[in-house]
Amino acid sequence: MKPAVLLTRRIPSLVLSRLRAACEVDLHAEDEAIPSADLRARVAGKQALLCLLTDRVDRDVIAAGADLKIIANIAVGYDNVDVAAALERGIAVTNTPDVLTEATAELTWALILAATRRIPEGDRLLRRGAWKGWALDFMLGMELRGKQLGIVGLGRIGSAVASRAAAFGMTVAACTLEGQATRAGSSSPLPMPTAHMMPLDRLLSTSDVVTLHLPLTPATRHLIDRAALMRMKRTAFLVNTARGPVVDEAALAWALSERLIAGAALDVYENEPRVHPALFDLDNVVLAPHLGSATSETRTAMAALAVDNVLAVLQGAPPLTPVPGR
Ligand code: GLV
Repeated sequence: MKPAVLLTRRIPSLVLSRLRAACEVDLHAEDEAIPSADLRARVAGKQALLCLLTDRVDRDVIAAGADLKIIANIAVGYDNVDVAAALERGIAVTNTPDVLTEATAELTWALILAATRRIPEGDRLLRRGAWKGWALDFMLGMELRGKQLGIVGLGRIGSAVASRAAAFGMTVAACTLEGQATRAGSSSPLPMPTAHMMPLDRLLSTSDVVTLHLPLTPATRHLIDRAALMRMKRTAFLVNTARGPVVDEAALAWALSERLIAGAALDVYENEPRVHPALFDLDNVVLAPHLGSATSETRTAMAALAVDNVLAVLQGAPPLTPVPGR
């Protein structure tokens, strides 16, 4: 008999076929996330759970999945999974590192450029027919050349962002928080520039663009709060492609509306898919709907890696990319 697995969202069909060849797949095929009561009910009797960052896999879900051998999160971040509860029960937890590093670094640069050159703001202006024509002082942005890029969290994605900075003539400052690996297994094909390591406070007060590349943990929740924002230059930009709660969204909306910083670009939010309503009224923030890893190549690779993890564990082999135990 094939092992039973629960898959909480559609994945590319070739990858799904590979899973179906080896397992009995219970697929939640809707566009919305599986409701938590359904998740608890359907995980019962399953040996593997393939889930997304939109699924809260808490202690109750894990208790309901008494036969689980593996929880394979199709994301590099795994703050949605109670890892301690899983490990207590001997359930492996895996994520999808490396395969999404370059896509997320590219999206970060897309946001840096969009914010500093005001592209979405200009797009909105054109669409409402408000463009009066070229003028020397019209919609001026900030040039990147010669400016300092401040990278908070120099792990895989932070390093891949850093390695693209030279192309724009930026210098790189970086800080890591206690416990975070530096360039852990970086697979970037680009050379890494010299990053000037400095404490967070100094990075915030000296950088022209601050970009966040940290996992969400109790230590990083609201790392960027009112005080941190007030430390930043009034001309600086904040970019977040990590996890929403790393930034206090209400404090950011306040700092942007008071022009305490020049602008921001966000790909992630505190209560996805909701966005703090004050942000919608501000022209100096670029809002993207959590697209960091959203390329066809990367999403296929993420699903494939999650399936490889499941197949390995169900065959009695070690998981390929286990998350570190806390
Ligand atoms: C996306 O946010 C991920 O963690 O993979």
